[in-house]
Amino acid sequence: MSVQSAEFIKSAQTYKDCPKPDLPEYAFIGRSNVGKSSLINMLTNKRDLAKTSGTPGKTQLLNTFLINSNWYLTDLPGYGYAKVSKTNRAGFERMIYDYLEFRTNLVCTFVLVDSRHEPQKNDLKFMEWLGHKQIPFAIIFTKLDKLSSAKFQKNLNTYKRELLKTWEDLPMIFATSSSSFIGRNELLDYINTLTEQLKDEFNNK
Ligand code: GTP
Ligand code: MG
Repeated sequence: MSVQSAEFIKSAQTYKDCPKPDLPEYAFIGRSNVGKSSLINMLTNKRDLAKTSGTPGKTQLLNTFLINSNWYLTDLPGYGYAKVSKTNRAGFERMIYDYLEFRTNLVCTFVLVDSRHEPQKNDLKFMEWLGHKQIPFAIIFTKLDKLSSAKFQKNLNTYKRELLKTWEDLPMIFATSSSSFIGRNELLDYINTLTEQLKDEFNNK
């Protein structure tokens, strides 16, 4: 799938203020600084569509983008950002968890994971929560340009082994780099396939 158009629609503090749920929606979630906003820019081929930063905690709202006038992509604040105060963190968590649980047009949540690191407890816990709530998700490894392919294979195998301790089947897994455009086609094709499958359901809305 090619991206013909991508535009920012709105920032919301709660899922209730997100755009009318009349198109399939996909969300990017993961630890602060993992590369959620950068990946949105890479997919849409627009350098500054989503604000990125080397300082964790840049994205603080539910930011929705409309792609090809056909589906929504939502950039979520990162979790596990230590510098946010406890009250703020609770607010962020509420915003994210409620969005994931109650956003009715959400088709797939992509959990982004830094490909350089060992499996992290809060990522695994988060995926368990998604499973418990029966929210479909896929994993996206980010920043592949930062390690050798041999090292990535090793990390990927470790990750899969870890997941298989809890899950019977592995989720879809994508490997990406926003700076090298690795994984762009695979990810867009996956989103396109899901969107096509849901066409009739959404056309009737
Ligand atoms: P928050 O909004 O703070 O939760 O962060 P985020 O997950 O949106 O991360 P963001 O896209 O802002 O990227 C964080 C930092 O990682 C920035 O300095 C990016 O330039 C860098 N980065 C993101 N993706 C890649 C990548 O694929 N390769 C490399 N080398 N750097 C990346
Ligand atoms: Mg961000």
